[in-house]
Amino acid sequence: MKVTLGTVGASTTADVLAVLVAEEELSTDPVLQELDEALGGVLRVAVKDEEFTARKDTALVVQGYGKVPARRVVLYGLGASAKVTPLEVRAACAKAARLTNTEKGTGLALVLPGKGAALDVRAAAEGVLLGSYRFVRHLTGDRKPRKDLDRVVVGWRGAGREARATAEQKRALSKGEAVAQAVNLCRDLVNEPANEMPPARLAEAASEVARAHGLTLRVLDRARIRAAGMKLLDAVGRGSRNEPRFIHLSYKPEKARKGTRRVVLVGKGLTFDSGGLSIKQAAGMGDMKADMAGAAAAIASMAAVGALKPDVEVHAVVAAAENMPDGDAYRPGDIFGSLDGKTVEIINTDAEGRLVLADALAYARKLEPDYLIDQATLTGACLIALGTLTAALYGNDDELAGQYLAAARTAGEGLWRMPLLEELRDGLKSDVADLKHTGDRYGGSISAALFLREFVGDCKWLHLDIAGPAFLDRATTLSPKGGTGFGVLTFLHFLEGLSG
Ligand code: BES
Ligand code: MN
Ligand code: ZN
Repeated sequence: MKVTLGTVGASTTADVLAVLVAEEELSTDPVLQELDEALGGVLRVAVKDEEFTARKDTALVVQGYGKVPARRVVLYGLGASAKVTPLEVRAACAKAARLTNTEKGTGLALVLPGKGAALDVRAAAEGVLLGSYRFVRHLTGDRKPRKDLDRVVVGWRGAGREARATAEQKRALSKGEAVAQAVNLCRDLVNEPANEMPPARLAEAASEVARAHGLTLRVLDRARIRAAGMKLLDAVGRGSRNEPRFIHLSYKPEKARKGTRRVVLVGKGLTFDSGGLSIKQAAGMGDMKADMAGAAAAIASMAAVGALKPDVEVHAVVAAAENMPDGDAYRPGDIFGSLDGKTVEIINTDAEGRLVLADALAYARKLEPDYLIDQATLTGACLIALGTLTAALYGNDDELAGQYLAAARTAGEGLWRMPLLEELRDGLKSDVADLKHTGDRYGGSISAALFLREFVGDCKWLHLDIAGPAFLDRATTLSPKGGTGFGVLTFLHFLEGLSG
């Protein structure tokens, strides 16, 4: 899709012409007056008849009827102008992009509120790219959409014929494009079914990102995972013919200055989680193709990192495996060592995520990060606690947790801090090994986090349980059903905060 900055008005040719309006702008806005005149007064009448007041989350659609080149003119209400943030702008642009696609259009023209502030331009780019996303790779014939939104012009108030986009607006546009493309890459990886996305394919995806942006990539296959001593990742991957992979993708700023921070993002990469011998029930098992969403977010974030080149050293570390029942599968009662050295008694083979993460965190720790962050579709209990739209955040450093929650707010992603309750730590005591890997059923998301904490040493660490929002069975404003790309935007905002 090509997104450009330019003049948009009544004479603009597009399938959909979308004007974003704050309540105060509705009666005085010159763009709307120009449109109303061109449409022979129809706009005013429609506003009155439909009682459209530009309240937030409302829209008014009128037809162009050949009076303006646009097929449809849509007003998106933003609410009171003092309260409009880039998140509202992004949501409205996403709706406009989705509408253009459902109307089988290819061209969209947007008018931003105010004077096209850089943050709104970025929000518009994010909105159109995220809102128009569809996963159609496996559709054929009539099922495959023949037309896709491919041209977007972003304009703003007071952009006369001669108005030129500023350098700041242009930078904001490329930034928005880079982050949204990363989110969409994450969605593609998550939506791909498990037969198309075994651990080796996930490693290829990382290699494509590395090649496109000149990043460094290290991949360990099963033999090397064993040789490295990643006994827990090996144990989880044993039951599948699709070999596990350990993936390490890294970016270093060209001229690292003294205070340059190092961040490691670890992702759970279960390309399919059947539960193993502790097999899951059939209902909903198919969703477990998305059990690599943490890994997908880590790999996809690196694409944006490679494009935006922040002044932060960033590593993505992924433990990828397929959890299957098999003659060679790991069993409840088994005891394994780990990269860290601690031994672990297996209780339930469906609690595989924390095992692969334990080895990945032990590896990541050796990189001596300033901040160690992991993202995982870790527990069903997290969905019970917070619902489907909000991820849990755990951490051992209040300042880091606060920074991350703030980044999530700016990114518009749902994140809620949860406590590492010491009283639940007892549940992880084993009689025969250093640790059991599951505790009490109650507080299941917390005890999973407590298990991970055993492997982070004294790093400043955050754990995000994204089991809810990573994959949804209904569409949201920004995302169709399926993979949402959750976590990418927050992580990238967090990095921006670090690189200043
Ligand atoms: N991948 C699942 C968690 C999950 C559930 C993610 C639903 C997304 C949606 C994880 O591996 C798992 O099976 N966890 C178990 C842990 C239990 C056996 C201690 C769970 O939550 O039931
Ligand atoms: Mn599981
Ligand atoms: Zn899992």
